[in-house]
Amino acid sequence: MMARKTTSLIPTHSAVTPAVIDETERHVEASLRPQSLAEFVGQRELVGHLEIVLGAAKARGQSSEHILFAGPPGLGKTSLAGIVATEMGVGLRITSGPVLTRAGDLAAIMTDLQEGDVLFIDEIHRLPRSLEEVLYPAMEDRRLDVLIGRGPSARSLRLDLPAFTLVGATTRTGLVAAPLRDRFGFVGRLELYDHQDLQGVILRSAQLLNIAVDEAAAGEIARRSRGTPRIANRLLRRVRDVAQIDGVQHIDHDLATSALERFGVDALGLDKLDRKILEFLCSQPSGASVGLVTLAQACGEESQTIEDAYEPFLIREGLLLRTPRGRQASDSAYDHLGLARPNERRS
Ligand SMILES: Nc1ncnc2c1ncn2[C@@H]1O[C@H](COP(=O)(O)OP(=O)(O)O)[C@@H](O)[C@H]1O
Ligand SMILES: [Mg+2]
Repeated sequence: MMARKTTSLIPTHSAVTPAVIDETERHVEASLRPQSLAEFVGQRELVGHLEIVLGAAKARGQSSEHILFAGPPGLGKTSLAGIVATEMGVGLRITSGPVLTRAGDLAAIMTDLQEGDVLFIDEIHRLPRSLEEVLYPAMEDRRLDVLIGRGPSARSLRLDLPAFTLVGATTRTGLVAAPLRDRFGFVGRLELYDHQDLQGVILRSAQLLNIAVDEAAAGEIARRSRGTPRIANRLLRRVRDVAQIDGVQHIDHDLATSALERFGVDALGLDKLDRKILEFLCSQPSGASVGLVTLAQACGEESQTIEDAYEPFLIREGLLLRTPRGRQASDSAYDHLGLARPNERRS
């Protein structure tokens, strides 16, 4: 992990920054999580594949193959891990790469698994290398080799594990070491959501939270949600707050638009860091490309956060271009920020 730069003057927290989740949000999120594949909005191809993989395992009376979910934050990886367990009718154990520091931590969880359980390891790319090696025989042969004691008297103990399904989540498959990646029988990639699916997510959440929004309002919130259900749910709650303060019962398009503008969410849903990234790229002489590390330093954010949480959306919207030398602002980025385009471009 790279150290977070603390000298930046730019706030990295904003109403819509995807990387930051607080306790209250965790609680609301849990209440909004889809519980089954049928409830999961969008990602039709991935859902279709999961129906087959899980359905076939169930028909054979076996536990499912190990599954890796990859994609930007807030697209539904944790939700899907829970759904795998629910669909298979088994228990779910949750842990994450960064909290597992010693082999004993992992062994304690694994020896406690019940037959068929799903073990979910979030941010599995942050699992220490030494623990990956504990996972390999567990994933392949349901075998756990644990070292008991220290020094010359240390001895290795082999334990048999019940059948279980490992579900891992990561922001990019490329971050997961190849030998670990290869041991997953199925890799599901989550894509940014399109407008219609996001609108569906918002209408579903509004119903669960008892918020009266019409379709046009949900559409406007969707347009500004950076293709991400977590952000859509966040913006919905901010709009609900404004409606509450204004004493409005029914949220329509105008209210949604003005509420989002009050929170500084622009027409494309760009947040402060998105804008900071584009402004920096647009400030380059002749629109020259900038390396990722330089860009991250200029924005006071970690390179990995920029790459995983910000770039996918900026690239999809055609605002940011990847070039052989780094990143470059597109013509539409200049237009969106109201800046003059560079006359001659250098890559
Ligand atoms: N396909 C979906 N349908 C409905 N809600 C979703 C969907 N995907 C994500 N969400 C909502 O978005 C929030 C974030 O999802 P989560 O599974 O925590 O994402 P990730 O683990 O990829 O960061 C949750 O509150 C969840 O309810
Ligand atoms: Mg998650």
